[in-house]
Amino acid sequence: MRTQTGTAILLEDYRPSDYQIDKVDLAFSLDAQETLVTSILSMRRAEGVAEGAPLVLHGDELELVSIAINDTALSEDGYELSADGISINKLPANDVFTLKIVTRINPTANKKLMGLYRTSGNFCTQCEAEGFRRITYYLDRPDILSVFTVRIEGDSKTVPLLLSNGNCTDKGALENGRHFAVWHDPHPKPAYLFALFAGDLGVLKDRFKTRSGRDVTLEIYVEHGKEPRAAYAMDSLIRSMKWDEEVYGCEYDLDIFMIVAVSDFNMGAMENKGLNVFNDKYVLADPETATDQDYANIEAIIAHEYFHNWTGNRITCRDWFQLCLKEGLTVYRDHSFSADMRSAPVKRIAEVRGLRAHQFPEDAGPLAHPVRPRRYSEINNFYTSTVYEKGSEVVGMFKTIVGEEGYKRALDLYFERHDGDAATIEDFIKCFEDATGADLKQFSLWYDQAGTPNLAIETNYDEAHKRFTVNIAQSLKSSVVTGDVEPMHIPVRFGLVGPQGNDLAYSGVTGADVTGDVIHVREPKHSIHFEGVEQEPVISLLRGFSAPVTIIPERADSELAFLARHDNDEFARWEALSSLAMRQLRQATHDVESGKAVKSSPELTTILYEILSDETLEPAYRALCLSLPSEADIAREIGSDINPDAIYTARSQILDDIAKECLATLQATYAKLNPAKPFVPDATSAGIRSLRNTILGLIVRATGDVELAAKHFSNADNMTDRADALSVLALQAPDAEETALALETFRAGYADNPIVMDKWFAIQAMIPGGGALERVEQLSKSDSFSWENPNRVRALIGSFSVGNPTGFNRADGVGYRFLCDATARLDDINPQVAARLITAMRSWRNLEKKRSDFALEALKSLLSKEKLSRDVRDILERTLA
Ligand code: ARG
Ligand code: ZN
Repeated sequence: MRTQTGTAILLEDYRPSDYQIDKVDLAFSLDAQETLVTSILSMRRAEGVAEGAPLVLHGDELELVSIAINDTALSEDGYELSADGISINKLPANDVFTLKIVTRINPTANKKLMGLYRTSGNFCTQCEAEGFRRITYYLDRPDILSVFTVRIEGDSKTVPLLLSNGNCTDKGALENGRHFAVWHDPHPKPAYLFALFAGDLGVLKDRFKTRSGRDVTLEIYVEHGKEPRAAYAMDSLIRSMKWDEEVYGCEYDLDIFMIVAVSDFNMGAMENKGLNVFNDKYVLADPETATDQDYANIEAIIAHEYFHNWTGNRITCRDWFQLCLKEGLTVYRDHSFSADMRSAPVKRIAEVRGLRAHQFPEDAGPLAHPVRPRRYSEINNFYTSTVYEKGSEVVGMFKTIVGEEGYKRALDLYFERHDGDAATIEDFIKCFEDATGADLKQFSLWYDQAGTPNLAIETNYDEAHKRFTVNIAQSLKSSVVTGDVEPMHIPVRFGLVGPQGNDLAYSGVTGADVTGDVIHVREPKHSIHFEGVEQEPVISLLRGFSAPVTIIPERADSELAFLARHDNDEFARWEALSSLAMRQLRQATHDVESGKAVKSSPELTTILYEILSDETLEPAYRALCLSLPSEADIAREIGSDINPDAIYTARSQILDDIAKECLATLQATYAKLNPAKPFVPDATSAGIRSLRNTILGLIVRATGDVELAAKHFSNADNMTDRADALSVLALQAPDAEETALALETFRAGYADNPIVMDKWFAIQAMIPGGGALERVEQLSKSDSFSWENPNRVRALIGSFSVGNPTGFNRADGVGYRFLCDATARLDDINPQVAARLITAMRSWRNLEKKRSDFALEALKSLLSKEKLSRDVRDILERTLA
């Protein structure tokens, strides 16, 4: 790798802090432009550290008002200020002392949305990963745990609500129309879990009794008048609390749990102790304004943040390299929760689609990094799908390897052994080893080796000896792994599917460790012999997607078709169907590029027809099957020399063909499907809507009946149907009068609802073809667009660059230039979101030559910009390395 400018932080450089902070007393005197923060730190020099060792505190864009040790002001030669903080070199001989620091900050000017900032006139904080240093000078690292007491003072009228972590211990009125509140959090915590909210919001309240009898007050704060729209979030919270007690034995540990919803937020939500702060799109929902996907997201994210109370807060991370310790595990927990609340196979398919859409390209490109990275220059750029989603897959593999019971014992041990710790991945792995006796040394490579492993598979049936042989070879190609790649431990769930569709038995196996239905691949190559297999089987591999790998089985279309019909694992059935479809789509793309006619195979159409008509299958599952791989999926499979226009044309033609072939059944099914009225957001009803709306898209493809979509739109009594119909109109008939009318009706109906308007922006950003850029540019200049609101930026620019392959990758390269200009503009406001935006170009090398040349030119010109943030520079340098 090329050396990067700026200083990289290395895992191997970790050392414990010379100083601890036993206790923090914070006092905020809130003011829109000039907030005063007084911090009194009870400091302790760590054992073995030399007297007078300099104390270096982090700080970022702070104005120092005063600093004193043991009540004596420090003279100017007692400390040194820099852009990153303060170094104090005149320290008392005592190993304990108090440090009192006063800083002045400007929340209104804080557009980075890290530290203390303003949102809709309220005050709010975001401190993970390194935002606390934008509030006061501090040892802002996750292994410094301290007990916080926080006094907040503000104007009684404009900020009637004064919230922080823990319990409220005092409050009252002050002179000059001001008031105060004091919050005490008894649980020692790192600064990244600190939160403050002050403002004027309404509240939805409920209660929860923990299984040991603790009465917990639950409060969700939202804009006045929107309290009823927090009901689903509250319901999700209560179900999460109960689930975590039942499944993990984790009980809540304070008397109050609060959630605050804000409209300006860099990420999804934040697990601050006792006071979660949420992007309001993951709190607010009602049938009129939220889609089924919104409901599912709310349920998942409420659970995720709540689950962090144990996996993240009670046990936190030693350093930011260990981020996956809390995120991978907590994602795994929220996935399991959603699977329990909804349909497990449908949930698993959605997870795998997401993993392939986001994590696989990351792992295959220049931004690849191990689940536990070893270096970073900007930690915010490592809140990635590799850390989160692949991190979750790794936890799932632990469970596959040690079994349900072993997993439970290991987690119990983890909670018991590390409660109150700032822990590491090694600690976590050790719990699995100690609780189960398993040797996980090789398995732990999953944390260290970037890239998606590949399995090449060959099979052979020896009729005479009733022996079935499976040859498996693993390999790992990665753009960032240098030096030797070591073979990994890959758990492959499998079945030998007989001609009748049932799994066949075998009498013995050699060549690999096979336990139950799992083959443990550990060597570069295995030749596995199953003895006593009475009939020739078709092997079903990677059932439930038991490992995040790619797999190339040498098999005929007929075998895929067989598995798509008969595999008893629903995930594997879907997978076989997708593989079959993918082959077709690749062939069709090739045909388009070489000017040949595109043909869809009768076999694929027949299977889709069977699935469509099979009422024993869940509607949600049928909808997933009918959607076929996306343009991005196809691009990823093709891998190089990508022409997004050819992919689009090929995919459209195949879908058109299928829709025409199945039209009568599509229409009959569409007419027959009746989602419950009034609207219920449960998984079953959502599945019915999903199937019905997928079918709508196919019918409009086959018939061009725009009227039908327009009717679907105007008859809708919920946002799922309305937004799906609007997508069908906009994406399939962008120039139709009905589309213009629907877009305008939608805009007029929801102009005052930003969360819904984000959908309006996103749908238009995804209209395919050459005209997309002008449309997006136009929208970015409209009054309702704002560069300061992350949700709006993501809805328009993010949807365009990630969700519109033909529009964004226009052959003349203007899409790339637009994104780079947008990134430059946003970088001056919010570097974190800007850096995220430009990752849309990480796969530029895979494009066909003309496009990749344009992409390179645009990226280079962005890199040459004078004042780039560390965030954007880091992404650019790695993308171009
Ligand atoms: N811990 C949060 C979550 O998992 C994510 C916060 C990340 N924020 C950031 N600025 N990097 O939900
Ligand atoms: Zn998280």
